[in-house]
Amino acid sequence: MADLSITVDGIKFPNPFVIGSGPPGSNASTINRAFDQGWGGVVCKTVALECEKVHNVAPRYARLKMEAEGLKKNQAIYGFQNIELISDRSFDDWMDDFKKVKDKYPDRVLIASIMEEPRKEAWQEITERCQEAGADAFELNLSCPHGLPERRMGMAMGQHPDVVKEVCGWVMEVAKVPVWAKMTPNVTDITVPAQAAYDGGVDGISAINTILSVMGVDLDTLRPMPTVEGYTTPGGYSCKAVRPIALRMVMELAQAFPGKSISGIGGIETGNDAAQFILMGCNTVQVCTGVMLHGYKMVKPMIEELSAFMDKHGFKSIEDFRGHALEYFTTHADLAERQRIAKVKKTLERDSDWDGENFVKQSDALAANTTS
Ligand SMILES: Cc1cc2nc3c(=O)[nH]c(=O)nc-3n(C[C@H](O)[C@H](O)[C@H](O)COP(=O)(O)O)c2cc1C
Repeated sequence: MADLSITVDGIKFPNPFVIGSGPPGSNASTINRAFDQGWGGVVCKTVALECEKVHNVAPRYARLKMEAEGLKKNQAIYGFQNIELISDRSFDDWMDDFKKVKDKYPDRVLIASIMEEPRKEAWQEITERCQEAGADAFELNLSCPHGLPERRMGMAMGQHPDVVKEVCGWVMEVAKVPVWAKMTPNVTDITVPAQAAYDGGVDGISAINTILSVMGVDLDTLRPMPTVEGYTTPGGYSCKAVRPIALRMVMELAQAFPGKSISGIGGIETGNDAAQFILMGCNTVQVCTGVMLHGYKMVKPMIEELSAFMDKHGFKSIEDFRGHALEYFTTHADLAERQRIAKVKKTLERDSDWDGENFVKQSDALAANTTS
């Protein structure tokens, strides 16, 4: 059977399946439940030093569903929006939880998702305290789209490359374990903030966080959703529907930074989804909304499906196929040229006088005739 283990930035994951930051990793018992089921790593719900500044609202989720018969309730959901903030639990409770998780699962990967206001002392304190409590790695949340920008946190940092570089630099001064920076997709070119994060010294990139969105308007009340006291605010879009956008952004990152690690996120729910992100260059893949909809047990069929894909192609390890699809991206102009040559070749192949050695000369002559 294929070996699903992978070593990323010096950390060994038993498999590439990681719980993405959010409700599925919101305390020690949920994180332990994930490890019980076989997840290779967990990124905890984002923590900050001062939970009293975090004020969540309800409802804070909205869903888009397919109208297809025979689908179970949650299978029909393909788009999900949230206006949830980072964890509202106390930082001290979180540090106790990290210790509990590492006591029970010393060989699983616990990644601390952290976020702070743009102050060096705060970022360095949170980094030092999380690693003392046992975090194996960090994911810097520079990308949450709602709520926190008011405090110049999350996406408000991630959209400014100079701030990204500075914050990453502060963390790297004190971090003793690998650090990934989590990117917002709400930018024109994701490689710009990623370059800034690398300039700040991080080891790898996680992508993507949620896409800023307006889920819809209730046609009875005429209020946008999710409606809180009659109002809403744009939220973060996730689930299956974002997968193509996530794949495109991961592709751009993999092409721009060969050799650097990527944790792929966005609409992943199956082993075949994971295989596509790995083919695009990812080392690990993260699942957040999928776990909220289908439960922690989904990792078992994901492992089986990824293994079956690898066996089918004779891949023995993740590295055997990681990034394999990247070389097949090109420009539209090049696609048109390849198609022109293919058509000419087909025509020439039908021609009994075709001389393979003179193919280019003949195809150019033929193309000149057909286009003139
Ligand atoms: C309800 C909810 C809460 C989330 N909270 C966080 C968070 O605290 N920190 C963070 O970095 N990302 C957070 N995310 C974003 C996810 O980690 C992930 O980047 C995004 O949802 C795309 O992946 P998915 O389609 O697998 O959910 C949250 C997502 C959801 C749906």
